Amino acid sequence: MTANELRRKYIDFFVSKNHVEISGQSLIPENDPTVLFTTAGMHPLVPYILGEPHPAGQRLVNYQKCIRTGDIEDVGDSSHLTFFEMLGNWSLGDYFKEDAIRMSYEFLTSSRWLGISPDKLSVTVFAGDDGVPRDDASAEVWRSLGIPDSRIYFLPRKDNWWGPAGATGPCGPDSEMFIDTGIPGTSASRPGVSDGKYMEVWNDVFMQYNKQADGSYLPLSRTCVDTGMGIERTIAILQGRTSVYETEVFQPIIARIEELTGARYGQDEQTDHSIRIISDHVRTASFILGDERGVAPSNVGQGYILRRLIRRAVRHGRKLGISREFLFDPAHVVIDMYQEPHPCLRENRDRVLEEMRAEELRFWTTLQKGEHEFEKLLPNLLRNPERVIPGRLAFRLYDTFGFPLEITEELASEHGLTVDREGFETAFRKHQETSKLDSNQTFKGGLADHSEMTTRLHTATHLLHKALRMVLGDHVAQKGSNITQERLRFDFAHHDKMSDEELQRVEAIVNEQIDRDLPVSFATMTLEEARDSGAIALFGNKYDEVVKVYSIGDFSKEVCGGPHVEHTTQLGRFRIVKEQSSSQGVRRIKAVLEN
Ligand code: SER
Repeated sequence: MTANELRRKYIDFFVSKNHVEISGQSLIPENDPTVLFTTAGMHPLVPYILGEPHPAGQRLVNYQKCIRTGDIEDVGDSSHLTFFEMLGNWSLGDYFKEDAIRMSYEFLTSSRWLGISPDKLSVTVFAGDDGVPRDDASAEVWRSLGIPDSRIYFLPRKDNWWGPAGATGPCGPDSEMFIDTGIPGTSASRPGVSDGKYMEVWNDVFMQYNKQADGSYLPLSRTCVDTGMGIERTIAILQGRTSVYETEVFQPIIARIEELTGARYGQDEQTDHSIRIISDHVRTASFILGDERGVAPSNVGQGYILRRLIRRAVRHGRKLGISREFLFDPAHVVIDMYQEPHPCLRENRDRVLEEMRAEELRFWTTLQKGEHEFEKLLPNLLRNPERVIPGRLAFRLYDTFGFPLEITEELASEHGLTVDREGFETAFRKHQETSKLDSNQTFKGGLADHSEMTTRLHTATHLLHKALRMVLGDHVAQKGSNITQERLRFDFAHHDKMSDEELQRVEAIVNEQIDRDLPVSFATMTLEEARDSGAIALFGNKYDEVVKVYSIGDFSKEVCGGPHVEHTTQLGRFRIVKEQSSSQGVRRIKAVLEN
C-alpha cells in the first residue's frame, strides 16, 4: 500500500463513519508561542479539544504535516525523520474509548481496509498511577474484539499518556497499536521496546484533562478522542520494509541524489547516512519554505531551523562529492510528489526553489572563502613535521570566515593532517574571555564588571529567564540584559503587559529556587549539543560553536559565558521592581536582590 492509498483509505473509512474531512493546517502554529512547529495532528485542534465548537462538527478526520526537530542529530539512521504526515480522527465531545477502539480495530484488520491479521496485533493501555486509575475500560474493549490478555500490555505514564505539546494543554491516557514485524525478538521484546519486533502504527488518545501551568490537571468540559497514525512509518510496516527510506516516499528523492552524486544507496553505511540526511532535510526544508505561512532562512526561530537543515544537507552533499548548489534539484522531486495532497507546495514552487538555492549559495560562498584561506595556509602547514593544524588557526578560519571546524578537519585529512581540537577549544574559550566585556555589552548588554553583586544578579537573571518561560511560555527569548551593581534589567520577547499575578508567580518561582540552594555548575560543548541537552541558547551563535552551558540545579540550563555564584542561597531575596514595554513585542523587567 502506498502513502497516497493509505491517506485516501483512512479518510474514506472515517467519512463512512460520519466524520467530516477537514484540511490539515500550516506547519507554523498560529497564536501558539509554545512550539516552533506543528508537532502532532492534535496541535491545530487544541482550541476545539478545549471546548470551542468546531465549524465542521464533532467527528472529524484529516492528515496533518508535522515537524519534530528534537532529535535532528539522530536523522541519518534508518528510522528518524524531521518531517512526517499524521492521519487522525477526532471526536470533539462525541464518541469516546469504545467507539474509537472499535473503529481502529476495524480499519486495521478488515479486508476492506488495511487487512492486517488480528494475530499480529498487540495493544497497550494505561496502567494507572496515583493520579489516574488503570484504563480497564479500554482493555475490556480490546478483549471483546478478540485480543487475548497476552497481547494487552498495561504500561505506565511514560508510555501510555499523551501530554501537551507545550507546557499546558489537553492530555489523557492513550492506547497504542503495534504490529509484530515477524523479526525474531528477545525475551525483553514487547510493545514500547524499540528492538524492531513490535512497531507502533497508531495511537488513540482519550483526552480528559487540561494540564495547568502549575502542573495540576483540570477535567476537560467534554471528553475527546485524538488519534494519530504516522503515514511514513505505517506504510513501511505494511510494505514489509525495515526502513522508511525504502518506501516510495523516499526512493525517488534518493534516486535523484544518486544521479547527482554518482553515489549508490545501500552499499556503504557512511554514504547511506549522508543520503538519508539529505533526503530528510530537503523534504522538510521544502515543506517549511512551501508552507502557507512560508518562512525564509534566518538566524531566529523557524528560519534558523530551516537554515540548519539546508546547511547540514549541503555539508553531506559535499561529503558525497558535490561542489555547487544542488538541493533545489531533489526539492523538485519533493514538490512533484506531494503537490496533490499538499497544494501549497505547488503554489509556492518558485519560492521554495529560489530560497533554497539562495541559501545554498550563501553557504557555498562561506565555504569557498574558508577553503581559499585554508589553501593559502597549506604550504606552511605541510612543513610542520607533526602534521597537526594548530587550534588557533582552525579557530581563526572559524571565527573570521565562519568555516565549520568539521570542514577544516575534512580538508586537513585530505592532506594527511589533523586538527588540534583541544587547541581549538582553548582558543575559543580564550576568545570568549577576552571579548566577554565587549560581547556582553554589544550583543547581550550583560555584565559591566565581575563584582560579587553583579555576579549574583547574573545568576538571578538565569532564574528569571527560566521562570518567565514557565509562566508565560517558551516564546520568551532574551532580547537584552544589562546588569549594574544595583539591579538587573532583562528584555525579552513577549507581547502583552504582564499581570500582577504573573509577576508574583515569577517572583515566587525564582525565590523558591533560591531557597532550594541549588548548585551552579558549567560544562563546555558545541552549541548543537547544548541545544540537544535542552539548554536555552540565543540564536546568534554559529551551530558548531563551542559554548559554555551553565546549569542551576535541575531548574535552568543556559548557554552563557558566566560568571555565576556557586549556590543559589548566595542570592538573597529576589524582587521585581518594574515591568514595562521596551520596544514593539519586547517587555523589560528590572529586579533587585535584597538581603
Ligand atoms: N497526539 C497523539 C500523537 O501525536 C495522537 O494523535 O501520537
